[in-house]
Amino acid sequence: MTSVDLLVQAAPSATCDSGLAQGPWDFDTVPGYGPGASLDDTAPASSPRQGALPAQYREAGDDELSDRIAAARAALGPRAVVLGHFYQRDEIVQHADFLGDSFQLANAAQTVPDAEAIVFCGVHFMAETADVLAKPGQTVILPNLAAGCSMADMADIDAVEDAWAQLTALYGDEPDADGRAPVIPVTYMNSAADLKAFCGRHGGIVCTSSNAETVLEWAFERGQRVLFFPDQHLGRNTAKKLGVPLDRMPLWNPRLTLGGSSAEDLRDARVILWHGFCSVHKRFTVGQIEQARAEHPGVRVIVHPECAMAVVDAADEAGSTDHIRKAVAAATEPTTFAIGTEINMVNRLAAEFPQHTIFCLDPVVCPCSTMYRIHPGYLAWVLEELVAGRVVNQVTVPDDVAADARVALERMLAAKPKPATTGSEAR
Ligand code: 13P
Ligand code: SF4
Repeated sequence: MTSVDLLVQAAPSATCDSGLAQGPWDFDTVPGYGPGASLDDTAPASSPRQGALPAQYREAGDDELSDRIAAARAALGPRAVVLGHFYQRDEIVQHADFLGDSFQLANAAQTVPDAEAIVFCGVHFMAETADVLAKPGQTVILPNLAAGCSMADMADIDAVEDAWAQLTALYGDEPDADGRAPVIPVTYMNSAADLKAFCGRHGGIVCTSSNAETVLEWAFERGQRVLFFPDQHLGRNTAKKLGVPLDRMPLWNPRLTLGGSSAEDLRDARVILWHGFCSVHKRFTVGQIEQARAEHPGVRVIVHPECAMAVVDAADEAGSTDHIRKAVAAATEPTTFAIGTEINMVNRLAAEFPQHTIFCLDPVVCPCSTMYRIHPGYLAWVLEELVAGRVVNQVTVPDDVAADARVALERMLAAKPKPATTGSEAR
């Protein structure tokens, strides 16, 4: 299966199978992403699978698992550090040494002191990034190897190499009079390490949702155009904010010759957007925002920039998970917030800031199918194995791939996030 087979976009369903919450191990060996927002996406056959979790971890109750995780952490001391993404479930978050968005976690992976092991409670591309940025000899562990990302899987190296060959044939490889290359590849952090390496090899860079604007400016200084993959929405929302007209952002569908665009449109392009999307953020609609405004006069609507452009435009603000968190934390008066991002994070904000009314824009509770796979049973297992001197679920990027990926990631870390602006400013 290649990315070309992954482009079918189903309408957001009115219901969501939440079977992942209690027993993610039931889905470790079945193909696909499992219940949750990515249920209808097609996973590549090559997706990492998780081997059987020993019964003692599947059968233990929440309190027992929490105690075992805490005991293993105490036994390991500074030898292990636990990093967690904001979308992780509460039972994981409470054990994290550091919680953050993708940019902050990449930074943390590079700067954790002398830990032998980085236990990454997030998804596969984040663990790969940590492995690329970690110090030599440090081991990165992903508690459940089946925690991938359906969006990241929508661009693979073969399809991107093919697109690059077609674009190079069209544009040539000579810089213009200002020394700008014909096209600069920019990959969203949500991508496999070999795509980050591709960007490193071809004068490109990685971005996250928090620094995408700085990164696009960086790329425009060096190139006439940008090939942005895999998330069309982050690419479109960011380029629009920088003033790029929509008719200069053709979509690249890897199933079609020249991505389905004309040679003329591609020559005129400023940003070529890969046909990828996030099934969690695809669920948010303008209709939900209108309903929230009708039912809660004065509501402040904040969404993640993986949402469709119309949704970002209709919101009051858009920004990374860290931006969303900081916006809520900074509100000095009791405020009603409607949030368009993953449900675990929204629920945690609601519990953490009871002075505000905080709810998810999507009335259907539908978690990210893969973030949710990190159940405390897996965390207890990998930590207790470490205590016993065994490394399980290590995520390793081959040295040659890591060397090129590091180039693109170092560029990303140097491109600092800007404060996000409001949706109306972006219009
Ligand atoms: P952030 O970088 O904003 O944390 O986003 C990561 C992600 O996967 C959002 O779906
Ligand atoms: Fe991937 Fe979307 Fe889940 Fe983020 S929320 S990890 S982009 S599927």
